[in-house]
Amino acid sequence: MGYIGSHTCVELLDAGHDVIVVDNLSNSLASVASRIEQITRKKLDFINADIRHQTVLQSIFKQHQIEAVMHFAGLKAVGESLEQPLSYYENNVTGSLALFGAMLEAGVKTIVFSSSATVYGEPATVPITEDFPLSATNPYGESKLMIEKILRDLAISDSGWRIALLRYFNPVGAHESGLIGENPLGAPNNLLPLIAQVAEGCRDLLRIYGNDYPTVDGTGVRDYIHVVDLACAHIKALEKLASQQGVVAYNIGTGQGTSVLEILHAFEAACQKPIPYQFVTRRPGDIAQCFADVSLAEHDLAWRAKKGIAEMCVDVWRWQSRGVRS
Ligand code: WQD
Repeated sequence: MGYIGSHTCVELLDAGHDVIVVDNLSNSLASVASRIEQITRKKLDFINADIRHQTVLQSIFKQHQIEAVMHFAGLKAVGESLEQPLSYYENNVTGSLALFGAMLEAGVKTIVFSSSATVYGEPATVPITEDFPLSATNPYGESKLMIEKILRDLAISDSGWRIALLRYFNPVGAHESGLIGENPLGAPNNLLPLIAQVAEGCRDLLRIYGNDYPTVDGTGVRDYIHVVDLACAHIKALEKLASQQGVVAYNIGTGQGTSVLEILHAFEAACQKPIPYQFVTRRPGDIAQCFADVSLAEHDLAWRAKKGIAEMCVDVWRWQSRGVRS
């Protein structure tokens, strides 16, 4: 019931799927379930459990006719992973091993995995294609690489596995209802929630990490994708797996790069307020540019992102200013 999972639940329910959510609420709120039901007018089964508890997973697979799994569960803050590597490997990798073991035991071999562009490390060029070299610069990225490798080895061991690895670029935005959105339980790490907090007045200014990058305006360039477009890619990937065995990785982005300053100005237009900012030193581990070549997903999944930067900012501002977050 986190940021990506909650938006994907909406799209799954709207597409007529039955959905069971397993979430330990370490970075989400139980109240999100009722908001998903409010948006879709469909019933959602929510189980408050930790995927690391394999016996709990085994009972869930015994009690329900599960056809496929979408795996979003994991910690995802790069900086935090550098401070707490064991927690990241324990939650992300050990949790995935428990989940995959329970799936295998239950004979459920279809999975869409929430991976990340972080697995590309510092790309030599952009745009990034799926065959780029993989590397990690932090335990979070390492954990995603390890889980991708585990899934590839599963597929080698048993041709019955159907696996889509979705490498997210930068998810932003919120559902148009304003009822669900990015709601980090601690201080936000990512750009959009921070800008939104400046706009709301609960943060004084945005500190822009570096304006001396070799980019259009010196600030970092990323591939921001609306979370609803990202959620729809999961539905398309699930449909694709019905006719595709083995493992395939897909870049899920827009294929467009946008700088920090461009995002900031787009947000000012969305909220009709100035967003004060200050250039500070680069953030360790940041790269200059990161955006996707999305042609494989467009071709294989018959999917492409439809929402632009302006809509992303309008939807974030609606979510932030309505304050429906507890
Ligand atoms: C975006 C841009 C910053 C905050 C991370 C993870 C990645 C994925 C998405 C999980 C960069 C700049 C940011 C601030 C700033 N998460 N920035 N001031 O680092 O591209 O990717 O989130 O899968 O794995 O690495 O996203 O939102 O932190 O930064 O100037 O206060 O905004 O330098 O150029 P990032 P971000």
